[in-house]
Amino acid sequence: MAFFSLPSSTHPIHPAQVRSSSLKPLIYSSSPGFFSHAFRPTRVTNHKTHAEASTCKAQNADHHQNPSTDDSISSSKSNSSKTSAGQFERRDVLLGLGGLYGATTLGTKQSSLALPVSPDISNCTDARETPNGIPINCCPPSAASYSDYTPSAREVYTRMPAHTVSHDYVKKYSSAIAKMKNLSLSDPRNFYQQANVHCVYCDEGYSQSGFPDKKLDVHSSWLFFPWHRWFLYFFERICKNLLDDDTFTLPFWQWDDSSGMQIPPMFNDSKLSLYNCIRNPKHLPPKVVDLAYKGTDSGIDPKTQIQYNCCTMYTQMITHSSAPPLFFGHPLLGGGDPDPGAGSIETEPHNNVHDWVGDPSEPNNEDMGVLYSAGRDPIFYAHHANVDRMWYIYNNVLKRKNIEDPDWLNSSFIFFNEAGRPVRVTVKDSTNLAKLGYTYPDLPLSWLDRKPKARRKGLNLTKVSAPKASEVLPIKLEKPISFVVERPKKSRSGQEKAEAEEVLKIKGIEFDKGETVVFDVFVNEDDTSKCNPCKAESLGSFHTLAHGHGKKSTTSRSFAISEVLEELGADDFDSILVILVPRRGVVTIGGVEITFVPKP
Ligand code: C2O
Repeated sequence: MAFFSLPSSTHPIHPAQVRSSSLKPLIYSSSPGFFSHAFRPTRVTNHKTHAEASTCKAQNADHHQNPSTDDSISSSKSNSSKTSAGQFERRDVLLGLGGLYGATTLGTKQSSLALPVSPDISNCTDARETPNGIPINCCPPSAASYSDYTPSAREVYTRMPAHTVSHDYVKKYSSAIAKMKNLSLSDPRNFYQQANVHCVYCDEGYSQSGFPDKKLDVHSSWLFFPWHRWFLYFFERICKNLLDDDTFTLPFWQWDDSSGMQIPPMFNDSKLSLYNCIRNPKHLPPKVVDLAYKGTDSGIDPKTQIQYNCCTMYTQMITHSSAPPLFFGHPLLGGGDPDPGAGSIETEPHNNVHDWVGDPSEPNNEDMGVLYSAGRDPIFYAHHANVDRMWYIYNNVLKRKNIEDPDWLNSSFIFFNEAGRPVRVTVKDSTNLAKLGYTYPDLPLSWLDRKPKARRKGLNLTKVSAPKASEVLPIKLEKPISFVVERPKKSRSGQEKAEAEEVLKIKGIEFDKGETVVFDVFVNEDDTSKCNPCKAESLGSFHTLAHGHGKKSTTSRSFAISEVLEELGADDFDSILVILVPRRGVVTIGGVEITFVPKP
């Protein structure tokens, strides 16, 4: 079969990663010594009483074990001391030139000296610690050099909805996953090593190249869409390679359509390698997914749930995606703190679907409900193919633009290709699907006309007795709070609205990353119990997924409100009433502001 050839030259590590004797010409080694720490089992299975589930989970846990040797621990340590010196030098220079740290706001960069982000794969550390104190190591096989990779597909193949594909296709995909699971654990194409690649990029296993004290996380920023597109791209190519079938494409879980709002059958058949028993047993088919899931079942009937899901899709894809930074997420620049803020789809429904599939009787809602283990569930790849399809729809159906900032376009990641070799890819090369050799079918979108309606129009609640935001914030969110936010500009013209989106930004959201945190946000609403996702007063949620225990995160969440205020008949009001309702986890809210984000 014909795969695109790699450029023959390999680059040394990024110049900022000053290294000496440890620079080897290796690609990846089959020796188990490349796992840098002893792996300890991360599963607690004995709390399960269901015998079958225990057996299933015990088998799964076996697959999750990584080999280890002691010598790799020392080599990893020596690497880190070698890298630090040179990297600190560069950072100091950059700081001296004006400083980069935290220099971003939504869609604008305060520093002219910005840098695209790239990972330092030469030094991988324990990704995090679980709440029960067991360190998790998900470092994939190490690699000292990589090739640059530019996609240039000759053919374009279409990914299909997981619930509509043929029996033969399912058998084929299942055999690809079986083959991946059967590869040696030291092979980076092994299914569980692929899951590790996701873990290491989400649980801060790598630092940012040039900034050894700044960790990299590909969630909660504008890196989310391109990183996951590339991750699936190589996962799909590994499948093509193992199947010896260039025409093979990944399926997508079409949770945005009423016909696809259940776990697709292929992932619920215990005879297939696509099966995983570590899922919420209450959410198996025919249960309808709750795209706004907050950790407890709402108990509403399936028909209403489907309607709410369509409203959630409209809100996230249309309302809250009206400008690129709102859809993609906030900028993460080299040297910046991870998690500047997720985009609309990442927050909801991406995080909710993870959470909904995970098994709450596991210590951390494994597998899907916590990012370190999410990639161990084959449904992850179908979930993310649909997330990726939302980017396709954003471009091709909604005709909305990508970010044009060179720091986004030039950010880069390193993956293992279908030959198990490390390759570096850029965000820029992820934006053209034809070059990547796949596309999505143009299916009807049942949520396009599901614009939430005002529960009550023209109600000016700011006249009632709510305090100003500055009188309330910052606050630890322990009970629902309401406050009034002044609008810098009201009654904007159609032209002004077409040029810039009015955005409510909740800032300084602080929490422990090891915990899933959820709070709801409403505008001009005084009885949130009467509100639902099909009401315009419901802006949506702040929703994180646990990853990186013991690490504090400070992030933000932005909601587009131009269309909402129009629908609420509040366009001419001087201010809005904001209500925050805590749902899960411990969280502090730092502040709030209304800004205007340009629409390109
Ligand atoms: Cu990297 Cu769905 O998460």
